[in-house]
Amino acid sequence: MRGIILSGGAATRLRPCTKITSKQLLPIYNRPMIYYPLNTLIKAGIKEILIIVSPERAGDYLNLLGSGKEFGVKFTYEIQDKPGGLPEAFIIGENFIDQENVAMILGDNIFEDDFSEDIKNFKSGAKVFAKKVTDPERFGVVKMDSRMKAEKIVEKPKEWVSDYAVTGLYLYDHRVVEVAKNLKPSQRNELEIVDLHNWYLEKGELEVALVQGEWIDAGTFDSLLRAQNLAKEKLHQNLII
Ligand code: DAU
Repeated sequence: MRGIILSGGAATRLRPCTKITSKQLLPIYNRPMIYYPLNTLIKAGIKEILIIVSPERAGDYLNLLGSGKEFGVKFTYEIQDKPGGLPEAFIIGENFIDQENVAMILGDNIFEDDFSEDIKNFKSGAKVFAKKVTDPERFGVVKMDSRMKAEKIVEKPKEWVSDYAVTGLYLYDHRVVEVAKNLKPSQRNELEIVDLHNWYLEKGELEVALVQGEWIDAGTFDSLLRAQNLAKEKLHQNLII
């Protein structure tokens, strides 16, 4: 299994803090934010990780993270020229993924769970991780039947569909590259991750698992503050990098 961390974007919601740096480099208690998703991948046994960054911040990521040797893994870097949507990661990462399965994590997603077993046992298709939330309209959401089979997956629904948010960790087989290449940009002119998921859903190959522990998308000032507290109270004891 290869790993991708998507860590680009302009993070205008966090201005002025992100005027001169990347959101995913802001501190979460005693580590830069990106260390948390990196921990999630490295803890799960992933050794080859592609870090996708914006051109303005590429140097900062290189200076901070280097080759990966320090952490016992290998980092590769790619530039995303502008935020064209999450599935662009698989087009940028085509050569890196090759014929392997891939786990993608968003650089601002902070998890308490250990996903080693899910990642080790993943064979093919796609798998997403859902968490019950009180504000589902902020996220992609997934509706499952009683046997946890995905029935419907929608991005930021205006009308209620489900309370289960799709978190920013995704597992796919190598077909994800071809699927991403065939997606058409949405009205906001981005490739949409929900379209990728619907491709797997229609084939009956989209699996859902529940996130047991805490999960935070640290993309707003309030969630950033919650992430800081969670890191101080719980997460920092279990970090391996
Ligand atoms: O956090 C989970 C949510 O992440 C999911 O529930 C949604 O289904 C998914 O679309 C995504 O929603 P966001 O509103 O958080 O997406 P956003 O456009 O803010 O991008 C998520 C992160 O990925 C953000 O930290 C910046 C980075 N990014 C985003 C885009 C669109 C990139 O690096 N490149 C991009 O092209």
